[in-house]
Amino acid sequence: MKKTWWKESVVYQIYPRSFADSNGDGIGDLAGITGKLDYLKELGIDVIWLSPVYQSPEADNGYDISDYRAINPKFGTMEDFDRLLSEAHARGIRIVMDLVVNHTSDEHAWFVESRKSRTNPKRDYYIWHDPVDGHEPNNWGSCFSGPAWQYDETTGQYYLHLFHKKQPDLNWANPAVRDAVFDMMDWWCRKGIDGFRMDVISLISKPDGLPDFPTDGGLYGGWYHCANGPHVHEYLQEMNRRVLSKYDLMTVGECSATTIETSKQYANSEGTELSMTFSFDHMGLDGGKDYKWSTKRIPLVPLKKVMSDWQTGLDGKAWNSLFYCNHDQPRIVDRLGSTDPKYRAVSAKCIATSLHLMQGTPYIYEGEELGMTNYPFRSIDEFRDVESINAFKELTEKTGISMEELFPKIAAKSRDNARTPMQWNAGPGAGFTTGTPWIGINPNYTEINVESELKDPDSVFHYYQKLIRLRHESELICYGHFELLLPDDPDLFVYRRYLEDGRELLTVCNFAEHGRTLEIPERFRDGRVLIQDIPGHDVKDGTLKPYEAYVIEKV
Ligand code: GLC
Ligand code: CA
Repeated sequence: MKKTWWKESVVYQIYPRSFADSNGDGIGDLAGITGKLDYLKELGIDVIWLSPVYQSPEADNGYDISDYRAINPKFGTMEDFDRLLSEAHARGIRIVMDLVVNHTSDEHAWFVESRKSRTNPKRDYYIWHDPVDGHEPNNWGSCFSGPAWQYDETTGQYYLHLFHKKQPDLNWANPAVRDAVFDMMDWWCRKGIDGFRMDVISLISKPDGLPDFPTDGGLYGGWYHCANGPHVHEYLQEMNRRVLSKYDLMTVGECSATTIETSKQYANSEGTELSMTFSFDHMGLDGGKDYKWSTKRIPLVPLKKVMSDWQTGLDGKAWNSLFYCNHDQPRIVDRLGSTDPKYRAVSAKCIATSLHLMQGTPYIYEGEELGMTNYPFRSIDEFRDVESINAFKELTEKTGISMEELFPKIAAKSRDNARTPMQWNAGPGAGFTTGTPWIGINPNYTEINVESELKDPDSVFHYYQKLIRLRHESELICYGHFELLLPDDPDLFVYRRYLEDGRELLTVCNFAEHGRTLEIPERFRDGRVLIQDIPGHDVKDGTLKPYEAYVIEKV
């Protein structure tokens, strides 16, 4: 396996508007982030993935970009960005930018031109189509509810938007679009950034002829049938040749509906496309009949299978990213652990252990290192996310589901759960802001916050810090092969990692809220305990407490 820095790194994702507010307007900003770099240094992470900070009308919190080369004034200025970059670099922390190029904002200059006339030079920057029998050109549904086509009066045609109608899809089949995107990427690279996280990059090549999709996606219209389209690898190879290969970058493609087979190509070890992908098989396990909206929890046995399939499937051929959390996912403690104060912290550590000992590059999402939890939503007006708000409307109207039944489902899975402010201390505004936060602060900030966790040697924070340190020190953790043990055990997530030279470790995580027994294989009995989440408990005595987790390396 070829070694590179990004295979040995741990990434920390920042959602800028919710991280740290430096000027009291209730919105996190770049200066706020710069002020917290020492905190991130202490945690030990190597790379920051910055969610979008570009100019944007914010129909989708910045994932709708109106100028790729300008900073949203709410977040600061380009000088603030440059300062963040140089201060991060001074601390040995790299910065990876979010690259949102499946679509732009409808307020981007390209789209403003494009919609003016059918003959505008920018017309083919986007995907325009005549009405078919007076309707949308096909049955595609948007990811944020409703059809994926918007009729535009000016020219009497529809444009495609797989997401919000303020997020028109770029036409990647047009070489001028590729030139413009690559040029912009090169501009950021020359600024000295360290890579890109590529938003929904698996969707950029639309199926030839824009055919109707099977309606198995229910209300969500099967937009994911757009994934891995006919020319996506060609486009990424061109991007790689023309931009990525000229710099030493880390690239991660958010790949909706990718499979192990397609990821082997996207993240191939020859390096002709991307460094790694985000896949979502594991995040889809607690969905329901209407897409993700469900109060179901992630079931352990299927989770183990999905993770193990990806671990062994990509081993030696491509590279995994390891994540349970991001700005689109509810908090993992709620999905897989316990929010009961008695078990919250230990379950957060158990969850972290199960992920951070795998092969791949781990991602930590802001607040995950504190064991932050979902927000206790009580009413619809507490939601900010366009996806949740639209889903309420569409599902009640179209499926007849009652509000009483729907509310807990959306509350459980809303992306807003991840977007509540970072909890820095127990003071007013949780130390996030001196003003009124743009979204509610989780009331548990008085107990769960950075300041108290920094003081507590047994905190979730210090556990993450140790997991990161272990990875930095261990070739076995970074590069070892993976084998799942006890695949059918309903409580225990157990696996081993090993290298050809005989180095080997065992990871054991008890996801049950009751005690368990487990006989440790002979060869690990004299092993070295690398980490354990219940300090002082003899992990070799064959018993496991609720959410107990440990890692033993053979000596
Ligand atoms: C990605 C982003 C998500 C955004 C969507 C459209 O899935 O992670 O936040 O809404 O793409 O850009
Ligand atoms: Ca601010």
